[in-house]
Amino acid sequence: MGPTLAAPADFTGRAAVVTGAAHGIGRAVALRLHRGGAAVACFDRDLPGAEAVAAAIAADGGRALALGCDVTQDGDVAAAMADTVSRFGRLDALHANAGIQRYGTALQVSEAQWDEVLDANVKAAFLTVRHALPHLIASGRGAICLTSSAQAFATQRGVVHYAASKTALVGLCRALAVDHAPQGVRVNCVCPGSVDTPMLRAAADRFATAAGLARDELLCRWGASHPLGRVAAVEEVAEVVAFLLSERASFITGAAVPVDGGLSAQLGVVLPE
Ligand SMILES: NC(=O)c1ccc[n+]([C@@H]2O[C@H](COP(=O)([O-])OP(=O)(O)OC[C@H]3O[C@@H](n4cnc5c(N)ncnc54)[C@H](O)[C@@H]3O)[C@@H](O)[C@H]2O)c1
Repeated sequence: MGPTLAAPADFTGRAAVVTGAAHGIGRAVALRLHRGGAAVACFDRDLPGAEAVAAAIAADGGRALALGCDVTQDGDVAAAMADTVSRFGRLDALHANAGIQRYGTALQVSEAQWDEVLDANVKAAFLTVRHALPHLIASGRGAICLTSSAQAFATQRGVVHYAASKTALVGLCRALAVDHAPQGVRVNCVCPGSVDTPMLRAAADRFATAAGLARDELLCRWGASHPLGRVAAVEEVAEVVAFLLSERASFITGAAVPVDGGLSAQLGVVLPE
């Protein structure tokens, strides 16, 4: 007989860590896990931002912690994870989501810039997972979600280090899934297309200025390049992350799930109108 499917309040009595929880996708995931009944530890290098999210959860009757943490630093991650488990007494779910976006070709990106992106997007996920795993194994129903990108399946010009980092996360996800399935830990990743967050708006500012467009006009054009015709709202990604972290996804591990409005399904073939 299969497992009993969980009710919508999937996370009652559970504790979760979300990295990059102060803004964007991580913030939406922290709020969604709280609505599902989880106690949520919000890790971010922007401590006031993380505190605002934790305060919103507390004001809604939930349990939350805000922890200032640079996830590229092993000591920071170790301390924040220890704090979380000492306050919540357990850890059941991890969304290793924090990341940065940078631009450049191999001829433009310096060694230091390469290291910055690979550290923030790949090493940080590895460190966060490494410190969470003993607690997720102890939970008996631990689950991890990483935030990769549609850039893991196909890419655009001028994102050499970002594309490499997001593709590496899919490999990391598969390796972790295979290694830790016997210990009852599931590991998946989401691969978003364009999502309306501070990161996307900063990118739009940068390219809109160069192209002489308004930011919103460029965001509309980026949205139109997705078959569904728009960029995603953060809640649309958070819903998939919450599903993958819940027992409703009890037989899914090692998966890279596109949340991209069809972007990665579409070839860029130009047809006459
Ligand atoms: N927005 C998009 O269109 C999009 C698309 C695909 C993938 N992603 C990925 O989604 C994730 C979240 O992106 P977002 O758009 O919400 O970005 P965002 O910039 O809006 O938010 C990212 C958060 O991560 C935090 N952060 C960054 N580096 C950190 C570090 N070293 N230590 C601790 N905190 C750190 C920031 O302070 C911020 O709160 C990233 O991994 C990004 O690559 C975003």
